Amino acid sequence: MNEYSSEISGFHKLSIEERLKIIKEKVGLNDEETDILQNFGYFEPQAMDMLIENVIGSYQLPYSIACNFKINGNDYLVPMVLEEPSVVAAASNVARMARKYGGFHCEKIRQVMIGQIQIVNLKAVEDAVKNIEVNKEKIIRLANDQDPILIKFGGGAVDLEVRPIDTIKGPMIIVHLLVNVLDAMGANAVNTMAEAIAPLLEELSRGKVLLRIISNLATHRIAKCKATFDKDMLGGAEVVEGILNAYAFAKADPFRCATHNKGIMNGIIALTLATGNDTRAIEAGAHAYAALNGYSPLSCFEVDPFGNLVGELELPMALGIIGGLTKTHPLARISLKILGIKKAEELAQVAVALGLCQNVAALRALAAEGIQAGHMKLHKRKAEKID
Ligand code: MEV
Repeated sequence: MNEYSSEISGFHKLSIEERLKIIKEKVGLNDEETDILQNFGYFEPQAMDMLIENVIGSYQLPYSIACNFKINGNDYLVPMVLEEPSVVAAASNVARMARKYGGFHCEKIRQVMIGQIQIVNLKAVEDAVKNIEVNKEKIIRLANDQDPILIKFGGGAVDLEVRPIDTIKGPMIIVHLLVNVLDAMGANAVNTMAEAIAPLLEELSRGKVLLRIISNLATHRIAKCKATFDKDMLGGAEVVEGILNAYAFAKADPFRCATHNKGIMNGIIALTLATGNDTRAIEAGAHAYAALNGYSPLSCFEVDPFGNLVGELELPMALGIIGGLTKTHPLARISLKILGIKKAEELAQVAVALGLCQNVAALRALAAEGIQAGHMKLHKRKAEKID
């Protein structure tokens, strides 16, 4: 049991130093520990204090580069921020195996997000649905009035879907506003539009609007990629067969599938963090997408006529390159420079290629020498370096 009380009134109103002093006294931190907390690195402490509430320090992680990526004919050095050994080495290794057959081929991605508006207290659901559908253009126009800049650059609300659903609290209508958010993650633009059209939707439906919020299940912003991984570089026909068996295992068993998909997210989240994007949004979207038809692997595998492994990966990828932390975090800007990308679409293509690589690397290791061998090799190297 802790001896301190966690009840601190007005904590958020204090300066960083004042907050740290209170925590230091309450939990008994020593000077070395408070010095570590106060090391803000390349950030001004005030900038950190503006980002979230109750800040007392900053937290650092390794920043690393995965090599060998060729995606749609372009080479990329991929920044990754994470704490787990072997992940970056594994990604670089498998990206090299894909180069022999042209690297990763990624499809075009529409940058369309969904804003959800929930309508309750409906007297006549069918009439309400019809009335909303008839006034679709008017609703879209009103949404677009909120963001002239997005419209100027070619984005904006593009469509509306009306979904009556049955719930434990009775019938509801869920309106989906589809918004092309261009190079942003999109939450701000979409939430502003969803809130702006709510009164009109209440009028048209004669119901009451409750939630107005973006959906992280971004099914209109799906990133897809495909690559062929050389059989011999993977370790031969037996390893390829092992990977297909691992995939079959994940397809048949949700306990394995969660870990299979976690391996994919190892890469994607590391890149998401390195570029200042919202890791929770990407993670939520990925697992919701995996669960759409019963929780399934996000990737799929087969062999080509020559025995090489062909992998595909597909998942929602709401990554932005403008706005929020992508703009204000110095390392996020540097990450985009290292990647050399100018469009959010390209970032999503890199992310999905990285995810596929990470997945193949994990399955290869598991099907061949086992995951601990790679980990142990890297640990040994680290120990030698320290000695
Ligand atoms: C560990 O971070 C990721 C793996 O567990 C993924 C997998 O099992 O496929 C190795």
